[in-house]
Amino acid sequence: MPLTNLFPLSLYNSKIILSNDEKKNLVDHIIQCKKKGENKRYKENTFAWTGDQEGYGEIHNQEIFKNLFENIKIKVIEYLDLLSIDHTQLDIYFQRSWATISEEKEFIGRHSHSQSHLSFAYYLKKNENDSKIIFWDTHKANEFIPELFDSPTIKNKKIIKKRDMLNSSHATIEPKEGDIIIFPSKTFHSTEKNKQNSQRISISADISFFARDHSFLEHMTPPFNSWKKF
Ligand SMILES: [Fe+2]
Repeated sequence: MPLTNLFPLSLYNSKIILSNDEKKNLVDHIIQCKKKGENKRYKENTFAWTGDQEGYGEIHNQEIFKNLFENIKIKVIEYLDLLSIDHTQLDIYFQRSWATISEEKEFIGRHSHSQSHLSFAYYLKKNENDSKIIFWDTHKANEFIPELFDSPTIKNKKIIKKRDMLNSSHATIEPKEGDIIIFPSKTFHSTEKNKQNSQRISISADISFFARDHSFLEHMTPPFNSWKKF
């Protein structure tokens, strides 16, 4: 094929297998959080319950999630290795973390995690029919005519004969239970609408990177211990 494809978005997709007991404990715990919470933003049958917006945004510091987050660290390091990033020069922090629960037709709208560097979704409980995750390309480097990829009328006239990665603004990924997907936090994502979810539960966190030694570096955040609070 006489096309050279440059500059990919690489999603890391791997598995973390928990014992049935651990999985059940985490599922029960997350459901209890939803029951106990005030659920200020959550409305039935529209948006999914997202723990970070309901007062449960720091699960990485809870004992019950310790084993899972230890496993996630290993996966993040593997992702960094695959991108040839020397993580020995970096301090890495989970900064925010939460669970989501999607019941029935609930969904998570398109968003990115702009205060963070790297994010992941881990599928603690998911069956085949539950919503998949959609990743959105905001650069659309191949979109040489404005709106070529997303215009409903261009779509209706079938001007694009076959959709693939060369001519799409979004891609739907089908995770299985136990899968973890790691992606740059700036990547916009959402879940499918109009799917019948049977209590789909995912866990996410935002991860930040700091330079261990900031000397001779312009473009990474210096370590906390060199900062001065107002
Ligand atoms: Fe998200």
